[in-house]
Amino acid sequence: MKVSVFGVGYVGLVQAAVMAEFGHEVCCIDVDPEKVARLSAGEIPIYEPGLTPLVQSNHAAGRLSFSTDAASGVHHGQVIFIAVGTPPEEDGSADLQYVLAVADTIAQHMAVDKVVVNKSTVPVGTADRVAARLQAGLQQRQANCSAKVVSNPEFLKEGAAVQDCMRPDRIIIGSRDADAIAVMRELYEPFNRQQDRTLVMDERSAELTKYAANCMLATKISFMNEMANLAERLGADIESVRRGIGSDPRIGYHFIYPGCGYGGSCFPKDVQALIRTAESIDQDAAILNAVERVNRQQKSVLFRYLQRAFDGQLADKTIALWGLAFKPNTDDMREAPSRVLMEALWQAGAKVQAYDPEAMEQTQSLYGQRSDLALMGTKEAALRGADALVICTEWQAFRAPDFDLIQQELAFPVIVDGRNLYDPARLAQQGVRYYAIGRGLSI
Ligand code: UGA
Repeated sequence: MKVSVFGVGYVGLVQAAVMAEFGHEVCCIDVDPEKVARLSAGEIPIYEPGLTPLVQSNHAAGRLSFSTDAASGVHHGQVIFIAVGTPPEEDGSADLQYVLAVADTIAQHMAVDKVVVNKSTVPVGTADRVAARLQAGLQQRQANCSAKVVSNPEFLKEGAAVQDCMRPDRIIIGSRDADAIAVMRELYEPFNRQQDRTLVMDERSAELTKYAANCMLATKISFMNEMANLAERLGADIESVRRGIGSDPRIGYHFIYPGCGYGGSCFPKDVQALIRTAESIDQDAAILNAVERVNRQQKSVLFRYLQRAFDGQLADKTIALWGLAFKPNTDDMREAPSRVLMEALWQAGAKVQAYDPEAMEQTQSLYGQRSDLALMGTKEAALRGADALVICTEWQAFRAPDFDLIQQELAFPVIVDGRNLYDPARLAQQGVRYYAIGRGLSI
């Protein structure tokens, strides 16, 4: 099938590469000529395991192409995906200008009937708005063709996006048009060979499903962080509590890890956007507001532990920081808890020596050269001459460190662990003061 994808950001590029891998002829359009040139040369602008070989091999096989020529993109695809960004406005609501601009472009160049697919995360009602824009554009040109709009949200996790896209838990087709549904089923047929994972529903339900899924996951995390803070004050261990509740299949073990707050480009943005949607219809989003507030507070928990460990005297201390990205297997620093911590440390006059397996470049371009930030080449180098160690991201490489070395290198053997990686008893034995989330044991 011939498919076009407008927007080769994270979602668009992964979706395009996987559709090409499954045999479709995919043409990607982006307004950024530099990005298009790099992709055409086989250079992938984002870090995502497995994506580079997938893009390169499908490009070489002629099934995946990149261009800035919108008209040729519109002509190429029987199905056209809109996968451009929906950045938050100042009040947190989603900015739809790029989505609607693509709709205008499609209407301007369309000569035969098309199925237009909203892949970007967009507020409920956007499919209707895109359909209205397309129709207005076509009418203006008096074009003798029509566009059907389908909502088809993505559920990719950064770091596992290729896998998630190839083997999705569900494929949501939001449409009430039998022909459009049939086209979408044909497109996704290779994804569904082992088991049909398609769920067909109306456009608005599909749009809300995307927000509801992310908000439910964010709620689980904030709930666990609240329980962790209670556990700490009450002298309980959240890790025992986590196992104790996870064993109930109605609760389950997934996504109930307490930590230093959720980050990334999705949860913070989507929770905010759904709150704004609720406000726009005078509905009180009490739970979502609480989820957001708890998360904001949780991001400063590591700084509070450090203040406690050093009796508030953080000026001139050097803090080793392991993990900068908002989660492992990505270089993404958006809304990362490490940023809140570093900024609080700098404010308090402390220095940071940081190491992350992937996010060093991103951190460098965010903060530039500054005397209170040193980006170190290894996790061991980050410890050299430091007073304490903080862990912000649970990279595999941090799970079984050399505790003797940590103890030798740190001036005050203190570990503040935002991801509960270590055994408090083991560290107590070693003589290291260990602050973890909701464990309270050695505090
Ligand atoms: C999230 C969703 O998991 C995807 O299903 C969704 O498609 C995606 O957003 C999106 O809307 O595009 P992602 O942001 O890549 O994916 O990251 P997650 O793996 O979900 O992690 C989000 C944050 O939650 C991280 O900061 C992580 O550390 C935190 N987290 C996760 C916890 O603090 N505890 C947990 O138990 C799980």
